Amino acid sequence: MFRWHYFSSCAVAILSLLMQEMNRVTRFLTLILGSSAPSETRFSSVAGPSSSASGGGGTTLTLNHRYGPCSPVPSEKRPISDEELLRRDQLRAEYIRRKLSRSNGTAGEDGGQQSKVTVPTTLGTSLDTLEYVISVGLGSPAVKQMMCIDTGSDVSWVQCKPCPIPPCHAAGSLFDPAASSTYAAFNCSAAACKQLGKHANGCDSKSQCQYIVRYGDDSNTTGTYGSDKLTLSASDVVEGFQFGCSHAELGTGMNDKIDGLMGLGGGAQSLVSQTAANYGKSFSYCLPPTAASSGFLTLGARSSGGGGNGTSQFVTTPMLRVKESPTFYFAALKDIAVGGKKLGLPPSVFSAGSLMDSGTIITRLPPTAYSALSSAFQAGMKQYKKAQPSSIFDTCFDFTGLDKITIPAVALVFSGGAVVDLDAHGILHRSCLAFAPNADEKTFSTIGNVQQRTFEVLYDVGSSVFGFRAGAC
Ligand SMILES: *[C@@H]1O[C@H](CO)[C@@H](O)[C@H](O)[C@H]1NC(C)=O
Ligand SMILES: *[C@@H]1O[C@H](CO)[C@@H](O)[C@H](O)[C@H]1NC(C)=O
Ligand SMILES: *[C@@H]1O[C@H](CO)[C@@H](O)[C@H](O)[C@H]1NC(C)=O
Ligand SMILES: *[C@@H]1O[C@H](CO)[C@@H](O)[C@H](O)[C@H]1NC(C)=O
Repeated sequence: MFRWHYFSSCAVAILSLLMQEMNRVTRFLTLILGSSAPSETRFSSVAGPSSSASGGGGTTLTLNHRYGPCSPVPSEKRPISDEELLRRDQLRAEYIRRKLSRSNGTAGEDGGQQSKVTVPTTLGTSLDTLEYVISVGLGSPAVKQMMCIDTGSDVSWVQCKPCPIPPCHAAGSLFDPAASSTYAAFNCSAAACKQLGKHANGCDSKSQCQYIVRYGDDSNTTGTYGSDKLTLSASDVVEGFQFGCSHAELGTGMNDKIDGLMGLGGGAQSLVSQTAANYGKSFSYCLPPTAASSGFLTLGARSSGGGGNGTSQFVTTPMLRVKESPTFYFAALKDIAVGGKKLGLPPSVFSAGSLMDSGTIITRLPPTAYSALSSAFQAGMKQYKKAQPSSIFDTCFDFTGLDKITIPAVALVFSGGAVVDLDAHGILHRSCLAFAPNADEKTFSTIGNVQQRTFEVLYDVGSSVFGFRAGAC
């Protein structure tokens, strides 16, 4: 197993500001508001320190927030505001809905791999909503590259020389394929090139395979598809890692200092699929609760076998895949509990399935489920003054002058009975309930990264199982 490790020193600054106390009997969370905390981390919880109990056979990398002080990305001001980020998150949600409305399909959970889920094969990710970065080495000698991780896409890419700015953007270290003794571009008849499918972009004058990846926010990257040595750690090296050597990036999502993107989708080109022989098509991550802390990405995490503790520390639920859209990982959300009490939503509410996505920020629910959640949550928040809706949120509160608040616990209940008790970070965003409704009942739900924070979320693609382990980072 390979795991990107993280360093607790980064978290110290925020831990002193904040604390959380969870009363599991009354199913309420008590939050102490940090008055001196930056607005982004206005309140927080202190999850137990991670003691990741992983068995052998895998590898771990540190996962950092793209704009946090622990981010390996050269430090600079966060280029976009919280409001703008949420606006783009909403654009992405609408993009998904638009694409989906062209098909008739609804996602069902009645059949695992044979699921009726229909999602657009062109569904990309809005790059701006990708918030988590890893550091890897590429080439020989290895050059450090900071890459966003994305479970919603497959083709990985980094900026390569030549890469004028624009259409490229200033990055940490531009990868120079000519300076790597192990780099090779694919020719146009290579199997890896043919496998690109909708990402194929013809041949250049030197018969080198060209690729294109288009994202949901109309950004795109183009260049040469090639392979090189990928160094995850001193002992974890992927020979012949296939990726796009990007010579141009266009669109709003590209204007920051990220070197590239690491695709963790279920499609053939993703890191997960390419390393199936080493890491068993299984990975997990823990998204850190604030930009100031770090999490991890593990390749080779297993829900069973592999010598670890198996599923014992995880609550698990089946993973659903769609043949026509192998990139995406779906779960079956069944109900939501507020204050320990299930809303009792009829199964039909969630019949369109639930996309598990590292690239969507805020969880989107069918309108029926959202309004039931909002009502129940407000009922548990009667003691607080309501506030005006804010950006995509309509259930907001005024906590002015308070240094301690108590909010109802919220849990996601998945198929098979898995109950995922959300961390406080997954319930409130600033002072609003951190969920939003889809535009219609037929669109699948999306479990966003705000709700996933602090959990180790396991994607055991080989066994078609999701796992959740609380308090992992
Ligand atoms: C399994 O879990 C137990 C307790 O949760 C821990 O002490 C042990 O080290 C774990 N074993 C492995 C192999 O991860
Ligand atoms: C969508 O539904 C219409 C009418 O029910 C049908 O004619 C069409 O073939 C369907 N399209 C797909 C892609 O299933
Ligand atoms: C393309 O690459 C394949 C595999 O590396 C090789 O077998 C083939 O001869 C190459 N074709 C050309 C035209 O270079
Ligand atoms: C790439 O993105 C730019 C900017 O959004 C757009 O103008 C261009 O048409 C896109 N190119 C392709 C081939 O999609």
